[in-house]
Amino acid sequence: MRTENPESMNPSDRQRWDLRYREGAYAQRHWPSAYLQQLHQDGVIPDDGRALDMACGRGRNSLFLASHGLAVDAVDVSPVAIAQGANTAIAGHLRVNWQCSDVLKRGRSLPKNTYAVAVMIRFVAPILLPRLLHALVPGGILVLEEHLQWDGAERISGPGSNRFRVASGDLSRQLHESQVGFDVLHQYEGLISEPADDGTEVNAAVARMCIRRSST
Ligand SMILES: C[S@@+](CC[C@H](N)C(=O)[O-])C[C@H]1O[C@@H](n2cnc3c(N)ncnc32)[C@H](O)[C@@H]1O
Repeated sequence: MRTENPESMNPSDRQRWDLRYREGAYAQRHWPSAYLQQLHQDGVIPDDGRALDMACGRGRNSLFLASHGLAVDAVDVSPVAIAQGANTAIAGHLRVNWQCSDVLKRGRSLPKNTYAVAVMIRFVAPILLPRLLHALVPGGILVLEEHLQWDGAERISGPGSNRFRVASGDLSRQLHESQVGFDVLHQYEGLISEPADDGTEVNAAVARMCIRRSST
């Protein structure tokens, strides 16, 4: 595991998330993103090559990708989340390259033309979208799922503040602003039903997008 000097990371993000994870956030959520699972079942996600899980949390999606044969780099600002993910990986005999790092830190870059798959799930960071596209190999797959701003009458789960949600059309617009060509394989904005940590079903408003970087 690679760990950045904790003092050089954004202290508010790191401390806030460490506290949440220490208090048990997502501790029951062992299942990977339903979207990622569906894309894998549909044959969109390759079973080899390198993968990047951006803001991986406790690593539910990293572990899923690793279990299907990908060599996963899993990055998160919270050392507590990374440690919990690493313990789960050890228990499951899975290998993941855990990296504790502030991905929003100025000057932070990603290796180019490297990953067959990149995922950023439930972490809103528009600045990273062009970098993620450049980090894919030609033909590589980017999977995004964010909480969506919602003004419908339905009760929805997830962040109370729109700061941690994307507006309708944001993902598509931000991706098109990058200079990298891609094809949209799947796109959805709206309500989904999903299990909460206590096992009950709740509604979430999400923006999902899966794209393939152009081959040229
Ligand atoms: C809602 S959780 C999602 C975790 C994971 N992607 C999942 O789907 O289970 C958001 C994650 O973003 C991480 N995060 C927040 N700010 C970050 C930053 N500046 N750099 C890296 N990770 C960050 C948090 O530690 C947290 O694990």
